[in-house]
Amino acid sequence: MQGNTEMENFAYQRYANPTVSILEAKFRALEHCTYSLAVNSGMTACLLVFRALLKAGDHIIVPHSIFYEVIDQLNYEASQRGIEISIIDEYAAVAFEAAIRPNTKMIFIEAPTNPAFLDINIPSLVKLCAKKNIILVVDNTFLTPVCQKPLSLGAAVTLYSITKHINGHGDVMGGMVSTNDPTLFKALKYHRESAGLILDPFSAWLTIRGLRTLPLRLKKHTDNAHAVIAMIREEFPQLEWRAVWSTKSAQANGIVSSLHTGLIAIVFPSQQAGTTFVRHLQLIRTGTTFGNIESLCYHYGSFTREGSTDLEKMGVPYGLVRISVGLEDSEDINTDIRRALRLTAQITTSTATELTP
Ligand SMILES: Cc1ncc(COP(=O)(O)O)c(C=O)c1O
Repeated sequence: MQGNTEMENFAYQRYANPTVSILEAKFRALEHCTYSLAVNSGMTACLLVFRALLKAGDHIIVPHSIFYEVIDQLNYEASQRGIEISIIDEYAAVAFEAAIRPNTKMIFIEAPTNPAFLDINIPSLVKLCAKKNIILVVDNTFLTPVCQKPLSLGAAVTLYSITKHINGHGDVMGGMVSTNDPTLFKALKYHRESAGLILDPFSAWLTIRGLRTLPLRLKKHTDNAHAVIAMIREEFPQLEWRAVWSTKSAQANGIVSSLHTGLIAIVFPSQQAGTTFVRHLQLIRTGTTFGNIESLCYHYGSFTREGSTDLEKMGVPYGLVRISVGLEDSEDINTDIRRALRLTAQITTSTATELTP
């Protein structure tokens, strides 16, 4: 097996486990990298990276629009461990460059951001980080290594919630951290062992089962997502939608429109329209997660008070509904979305008319 080169220590499960090692080897083959470490959740993957690679006095730059729990975790880490954070609202390389300080050690991104699909160009950040000796970490959960390979583009570390598409069946919580750098790997491995953050073998076994169909599932997610967007463009041309393949940096980041993860967003003109839409879906249920076999939607505005600044800072419009397009029959998905869109249009138009003096 290439990578994770030291002899694995199977004497105790906190150090290593044969089933987990098989999953890691398969993951390395998928990601074309040298080292991968499986851990027990995506948030653990983030914590491992922060604990192992940042020390007191270091500075990290993150965009506002990444998964909000990562920002919470980082704020806590920073306050407890004397790490400085800059959370920025513009995502071009120049904005990152402007935030760099002499003690900047890490830039942590998602590309594109989740759930707003904001554009981040990995190659331009790779260049910046190489110039300034900064560790570029990419949370690649949204796209999986099948659709985007940040390490091959030059990032130092990638991490994943394998809870999402990588396992795909909604029955595992797990994470993965990968790198090609032996020094970073050593620090990551030490912290995983000492804190017992390793994935459990049964979850590893389930994830190996999930990996077997990952490319097939992604193809079907992609085809179904394209069918949804085609229907929206034809029947609801005034509606704004977002998708990974339509971001400006998609090509530079290696994303092809024919293969991605089926994540899209519909941006309704108001919070109320978003709420109305999700309430009228019948097949597609609300779920905070994504990447499962079944379609799921999430309307951030339904769970946030309008006017509170959190979503605005994240660049998420109050009317944005993320849809993780699943593997059901494409016509069933489109019928559900079409019906809910028609009802939303009727209800929001009649409410607007009633409100008009
Ligand atoms: C982009 C991203 N990163 C990390 C996580 C955390 O993963 P987990 O829920 O497996 O801890 C999530 C979870 O939703 C996520 O969406």
